Amino acid sequence: MRAPGPGDGDVLYTRYGNNPNQLRLAERLARLEGAEKAIFLASGMGATALAHLAVLRPGDHLVSSDWIYGGTRKLFTQEFATLGIDVSFVNPDKRRDWRTKMRKNTRAIFVESPTNPIMRVLDLDWLSLLTKEKGIPLLVDSTFASPINFRPLEHGADIVIHSVTKYLNGHTDVIAGAVAGTDVLVDEVTQRMRVWGQSIDPHCAWLVERGMKTLAVRMERHNRTGMEVAEWLEDQSKVRKVHYPGLPSHPDYDLAKKTLSGFGGMIGFELAGGARSADRFLKALRLVTHAPSLGGVESLVSEPRYTSHAAMSADERASAGIPDGFMRLSTGLEDAEDIIADLARGLAAA
Ligand SMILES: Cc1ncc(COP(=O)(O)O)c(C=O)c1O
Repeated sequence: MRAPGPGDGDVLYTRYGNNPNQLRLAERLARLEGAEKAIFLASGMGATALAHLAVLRPGDHLVSSDWIYGGTRKLFTQEFATLGIDVSFVNPDKRRDWRTKMRKNTRAIFVESPTNPIMRVLDLDWLSLLTKEKGIPLLVDSTFASPINFRPLEHGADIVIHSVTKYLNGHTDVIAGAVAGTDVLVDEVTQRMRVWGQSIDPHCAWLVERGMKTLAVRMERHNRTGMEVAEWLEDQSKVRKVHYPGLPSHPDYDLAKKTLSGFGGMIGFELAGGARSADRFLKALRLVTHAPSLGGVESLVSEPRYTSHAAMSADERASAGIPDGFMRLSTGLEDAEDIIADLARGLAAA
């Protein structure tokens, strides 16, 4: 680290996010998202937390989509409560509720799209009309799309959040997050990152940059394999329902076709036999690994009841469209026919 001298400007220190590896990486993401600026943080959760802390103060109110990652829900309900930030949840299907849940002190709206794990796609062009009318920022967790498949800023969002752990890095070997948006908003996040100790180290930045060099070709493959596997799953008698925005049976198919450049590699599906069937299915797999996380080169499958949505009761999950027996599949870069053969093995045992 260079010691500061007169007229040197910003002190260069890795925790400040201004190491050359961090700066290059941030610029790469800003360009991909069409943002003025971006900053990488220590995890997706760190990115979500600091993006919100950049725009919310004690006494403020946040309106959030109900369809969000379980960890984010915990952050909003447990942590924000202790900071005096109140959060209301809206079922995005009930469009009118976005407006009725707003209060005088509502300072931001947060959504995730596509959603984890039922792959719902939200209409940001419509929602951003409301945030613009109210003069508040729209924050979007775009982890499942990656900037190759969707760029929220082009649809009226103000802040994009990523769990870089997933598609952006793509190799399941780092934990990182990112925020992209205007200079002013990203500077607010950066200030908080410095004091909350949320920066990434240079090696992590180097690994993520390596990953991002292949992001476009990886996404092309994820999009193709995701579609092939989703279509195959839909024909299987032991599968009750498939959640994939590229299928005409998906409730957001038309919107997804219009707004996404690709449907991604994430697929939700429900085993007709429920929880017991899920145990047998997972035990029989040989190629697809039973593990949390997603968006990497290797196919992973997990059950939201044990991972992302473990904090919810079985009834709450069922009413959120995630009954027991629900599988979240992240298709990797293996041949689609090998993934399908493995899933067939699992289904035969289910
Ligand atoms: C949509 C979404 N956002 C945020 C996160 C949190 O990311 P991280 O694990 O990098 O903190 C996850 C993790 O699964 C996620 O799926």
